[in-house]
Amino acid sequence: MTLQARIRPLFDEARIAARNLELADEIVALQPKDLLVIPVLKGSFMFAADLIRAMHRKGLSPHVEFIQLSSYRQATVSSGQVEVTKDIESSVKGRDILLVDDILESGRTLAFAKDLLMARGAGRVMSCVLLEKPNKRAVQITPDLVGFVCPDHFVVGYGMDVAHAFRELPFVGVIDH
Ligand code: IMP
Ligand code: MG
Repeated sequence: MTLQARIRPLFDEARIAARNLELADEIVALQPKDLLVIPVLKGSFMFAADLIRAMHRKGLSPHVEFIQLSSYRQATVSSGQVEVTKDIESSVKGRDILLVDDILESGRTLAFAKDLLMARGAGRVMSCVLLEKPNKRAVQITPDLVGFVCPDHFVVGYGMDVAHAFRELPFVGVIDH
């Protein structure tokens, strides 16, 4: 059996699309001003593309910039260090920001991004994650918006990878062993 055949859908396309429209409504309700959406690459690219189009359908016209972050993990221990590998180009001074990420796990990636933008003088830094894995937080951070609570499995698809594979899948799935 191929590896792809062993991927069991967890959140399918229709469910994700419906949730994206609800999230866009929730973003409208936050009344963002001069909004800049910043997807955290790479895992969030597909979610962000769909979420931003859902936001357009709900009447929002945000600007969009990308940031890429790496968190370094030694074989067994997460060092907790996060580094910017590709930065945004615009000033965030006084602006409302919506960070978009694929999964919130330890919270280190999102906390780092939030602190960085606050330090640069952003007005309000909001965050939206597609998936949240509960009971995994190493740092205190609560996202403003969450697509789905994710069971404690390693998930792939809809932008997320294992060793660079499976980002292309239009759904979120788990690898069955
Ligand atoms: P953290 O919140 O800083 O621990 O990092 C979360 C990041 O780890 C996500 O943005 C993903 O890139 C990655 N990640 C965590 N869990 C998974 C998973 O189940 N599948 C794929 N990537 C994951
Ligand atoms: Mg990521």
